[in-house]
Amino acid sequence: MPTRGNGDTDWNAFDSNAYVDHNYRALRPDDEQILRVVRDFFRNHFDRHPSGPVPGIDVGSGANLYPALALLPWCSEITLFERAATNVRWLERQTPGYEANWDAFWDVLKEKEPYASVADPRARLRPAARVKQGNLFDLPVGRWGAGTMFFVAESMTTSHDEFREGVRRFAECLTPGAPFAAAFMAGSTGYRVGTELFPACSVTGEQVRDALDPFTESEVEITHIGIPGGYSLREGYEGMVVACGRRDRA
Ligand SMILES: C[S@@+](CC[C@H](N)C(=O)[O-])C[C@H]1O[C@@H](n2cnc3c(N)ncnc32)[C@H](O)[C@@H]1O
Repeated sequence: MPTRGNGDTDWNAFDSNAYVDHNYRALRPDDEQILRVVRDFFRNHFDRHPSGPVPGIDVGSGANLYPALALLPWCSEITLFERAATNVRWLERQTPGYEANWDAFWDVLKEKEPYASVADPRARLRPAARVKQGNLFDLPVGRWGAGTMFFVAESMTTSHDEFREGVRRFAECLTPGAPFAAAFMAGSTGYRVGTELFPACSVTGEQVRDALDPFTESEVEITHIGIPGGYSLREGYEGMVVACGRRDRA
């Protein structure tokens, strides 16, 4: 099969509403598990390395707010960085006051402090959000103090080289010691949003670890999330991989 690189795809054909309807209209058990893993990772990190609020970034936000919600208590501002104009418009509509479906995602986060102490997450996200259109291959280096990237590096190309390069750009946009959480589809070979087919490259937990290891301070924590009974999200998809770690200080 010929390679379909990131630049070979018209990302402006990404149908944000179809994507939300398919993936996030209701909270799925696998996203619920991911929320707990990421929440607890950030809690542990900031317990061990207390700091004031840091600038955060979610890379390739698409039409998903839950990575930004996971960053919310720790961040002075959150850049929602996205290539597709459709998703940028969606983010600009949602961040001033997001729709009710995201409440179920926040409910999982707020089981624990300091999420529980955020009285009104909409009021907190509104002034913090910075929606920015751009290409992750052009991200500046060493700018953000906490980061998330969910289903992007492996879900934007069929090329493993571009996957690794995407992971590198994500890691390198963070400041030394910054905590990050990234999620990946395992074994995905592509996905449909509305009527459009988008490229993906099939990755394993080991490949995710190998891609992140050169940029992290200590072992990357890898969590495998299985497909919940009765659900199938994407063709060829084998589950999800969550990787949490800290940018190294080199
Ligand atoms: C599968 S979606 C994931 C969206 C969202 N993060 C989530 O968790 O559902 C992949 C996203 O990556 C974005 N993307 C693709 N190439 C990109 C690039 N070069 N720079 C930034 N974003 C990109 C797409 O527009 C799309 O929103």
